[in-house]
Amino acid sequence: MCGIIGILGKEAVADDLVDALRRLEYRGYDSAGIATVDSGRLDRRRAEGKLKNLQKVLNTQPLAGLTGIGHTRWATHGAPTEQNAHPHATSEVSVVHNGIIENFQSLRASLEARGVRFDSQTDTEVIAHLITEELHSLGNPIKAVAAALKQFEGAFALAIIFSGYDNMMIGAKKGSPLAIGHGDGEAYLGSDAIALAPFTNEITYLEDGDWVVLTRENMIIRDMDGTVVQRERQVVDVSTMAIDKGEYRHFMDKEIHEQPDVISDTLSGYVNFTTGKVQFEEMPFSFKDLPKITISACGTAYYAGLVAKYWFERYARIPVEIDVASEFRYREAPMEKGGLMMVISQSGETADTLAALKYCKQQGQHIGAIVNVRTSNMAKEADVVWPTMAGTEIGVASTKAFTCQLTVLACLAIQAGRERGTISEELEKELVHALLEIPREISTFLKDESQFEELANSLSKARDVMYLGRGLSFPLAMEGALKLKEISYIHAEGYAAGELKHGPIALIDEKVPVIVVAPKDYLFEKTLSNVQEVASRGAKIVMITDAQNVDVGNEPLAVIQMPSLHDFVTPLLYAIPIQLISYYTAVQMGTDVDQPRNLAKSVTVE
Ligand code: G6P
Repeated sequence: MCGIIGILGKEAVADDLVDALRRLEYRGYDSAGIATVDSGRLDRRRAEGKLKNLQKVLNTQPLAGLTGIGHTRWATHGAPTEQNAHPHATSEVSVVHNGIIENFQSLRASLEARGVRFDSQTDTEVIAHLITEELHSLGNPIKAVAAALKQFEGAFALAIIFSGYDNMMIGAKKGSPLAIGHGDGEAYLGSDAIALAPFTNEITYLEDGDWVVLTRENMIIRDMDGTVVQRERQVVDVSTMAIDKGEYRHFMDKEIHEQPDVISDTLSGYVNFTTGKVQFEEMPFSFKDLPKITISACGTAYYAGLVAKYWFERYARIPVEIDVASEFRYREAPMEKGGLMMVISQSGETADTLAALKYCKQQGQHIGAIVNVRTSNMAKEADVVWPTMAGTEIGVASTKAFTCQLTVLACLAIQAGRERGTISEELEKELVHALLEIPREISTFLKDESQFEELANSLSKARDVMYLGRGLSFPLAMEGALKLKEISYIHAEGYAAGELKHGPIALIDEKVPVIVVAPKDYLFEKTLSNVQEVASRGAKIVMITDAQNVDVGNEPLAVIQMPSLHDFVTPLLYAIPIQLISYYTAVQMGTDVDQPRNLAKSVTVE
């Protein structure tokens, strides 16, 4: 899951390539590089680490040329060194790649047997060498790429340039995303419309198996069989693609504070404010007839799905199975035809989730996709798309996308309950009313964050942190732990409060803070008993609760006082303190909040 860009420009392209890479850095940031064709000659600059290192190299060794490609990397094969950074090149071919060439070892072995020498440990380098070899035997770059593409197994998005060709670039897509941008006498390739936003809003998305020969004036798209195909040219709304931190220190901070607005926007897509009921465009199935819902997702999106399981089961009385996509896709789960499979994904591109979707399609399931990117692969594959209106999320740790996913899922659960006759009109209105209160509640809650700074001081000294919750708060406990791990690098576990005594309680002592997500719902007293169990073992307790003056057994480390809400919507508001806890702790520890080590925002490899 790297970011790639290609530009056929009217002026020198190096600065624009770096600018585009800045917009793509959320996809990976281990190393970066660009290559250009200048007076027919290929040249490249690469640097380990963040983009600023590449910028430094370019300041002292600039790169001329009107045609170029660029890459920002999330390492899969080979350490994140300069040597392994893209573009990978021979003297005739330079390539940037997002994805994994699964058969690279056998391809590399046969190339080496034919005397080719490799400079990196990457799978990508075989692409440059194989195309070069084909070029030698076929004498033409287009034929060479066509021949080479047939030999690659796995997922890839490629942008390729050639020595001696100032007005040509070839792109190819299989599995990983790739878009063509149309400019005025200029042409572009990019991993997404965000990268291309400063240059153009006219985009053509390639489909799997497509490859394109691009010049400044023209493009010819072919499918895997070499047949010329037409793909729709569309105008995308780039205004939603701002990647500006504004007055905030970090994107994560900004995105946390955008939640009242983006949840409102999302609600306005699914709630009829006049009737006080949810409303959805006609669906290709009825919730009444569904035998089961299956949910699959990764990371934070998976936890949104886990919350939804409680909602669908309790309010719509429909069985829900949920699994992380990396497991689900290979489980060979038997499925009764006519069920609903829901994928949840901010990017709509996560490789495992997409594969889970495809499996369920084969199993005769209706496919619903909750995605933040409407042009994504998952949106294209689904029978019905329920978009979240979170806007572009840049921080690697998901915040506003999560609460917008919860918003859509809550509306769907109400719709399902209505169709199945398990909630009355009155209850529907009550639940919708509670949802509509959320933006205001979050906005009020965000007015005073002083407590989080103080708490971060103690948490940043901890080696391990435990998060506990029951019912709807159990997925939040896991999300809270994930957030802490991701950006503060503190070891954290999220546990079902009642399960603690079956093992993890052995880890508890006075050095382990235990954060308890405990709205005063029907499980509150049960959770409180579990809190007493850990408190009596010396744990430092942090309560996130709307209950007043709770006795947790000893002096708590902190009590985060929440307003009282309808049980149904507590996950939406309680998500905010867990986001703030991880944010302030990471700031205290001085980590790279928006681009934490080893992670990437969009995971298009399995
Ligand atoms: C990555 C990100 C997570 C995200 C997960 C799923 O691992 O670091 O924050 O939750 O992918 O991404 P998706 O785009 O499918 O929601």
